[in-house]
Amino acid sequence: MIIIKSDEEIELIRKSNIILGQLHGQLAKILKPGIKTKELDKLAYDFILDHGGKPSFLKYRGYPATLCISVNDVVIHGIPGEYEVKEGDIVSIDCGIELNGYHSDSAFTYAVGEVPGDVWTLLKVTKEALFRGIEQVKPGNRIGDIGYAIESYVKKFGFSVVREMTGHGVGRYLHEEPAVPNYGIRGYGKRLKKGMTLAIEPMVNMGTHKIYIEKDGWTVRTADGKPAAHYELSVAVDEKGADILSTFDYIYEAIKHNDSISAP
Ligand code: MF3
Ligand code: CO
Repeated sequence: MIIIKSDEEIELIRKSNIILGQLHGQLAKILKPGIKTKELDKLAYDFILDHGGKPSFLKYRGYPATLCISVNDVVIHGIPGEYEVKEGDIVSIDCGIELNGYHSDSAFTYAVGEVPGDVWTLLKVTKEALFRGIEQVKPGNRIGDIGYAIESYVKKFGFSVVREMTGHGVGRYLHEEPAVPNYGIRGYGKRLKKGMTLAIEPMVNMGTHKIYIEKDGWTVRTADGKPAAHYELSVAVDEKGADILSTFDYIYEAIKHNDSISAP
């Protein structure tokens, strides 16, 4: 069942997403070569508790951390740990916060230092694919319109979208119906209605769409070892179109003052 939110509920989801945006900004301030991914996770955990929230991912189906940090060929669900970020990595940071009973969810991929041109293109195309998906969000359109817009754009560059994992409804629960695949057929799938809230999250591989899950039960890697990128925003379906509830603004502000990282 798709849970339709009232205007009041949407404001609560927005509040959660603004705190999450600020957290992403704090993480972008300290992301640099030499930092351990568990240090980023610690900052996130403390930040969320300080702001009266709860980490949405921690203990979700047994997930052991606050953040998912996915480096290079890790597509999503990388578990923070001893790994030290290094020059040339691409690093996706994904996080969700439960605040006043409502979840936020967003992710961003950074380039650390210089990355090859094709890797930069992967980041650019994945971020643009997210916004092309969001453009399809309006009452009357269908879930398939979102996935079609994302995949058809990504394919033009020879990249591929992951099929096993999808975006999702978000609100009272981190994962609600409907699933929002990053592929689809125009005019197919559930119809979008005002008051739906969706997390749209293209996961784009430079090479094959195929993935495998590591023995830890979480870490999703590309089958061919080539890099993958991931951007995610939570949005509400409004009369006119998408009301973007998450924000990358704090991230771009932080990047301005951090010479070690960049992003399209
Ligand atoms: N943004 C991801 C998702 O929506 C993160 C979930 S990690 C988990 O699937 F641990 F919570 F599963
Ligand atoms: Co999500």
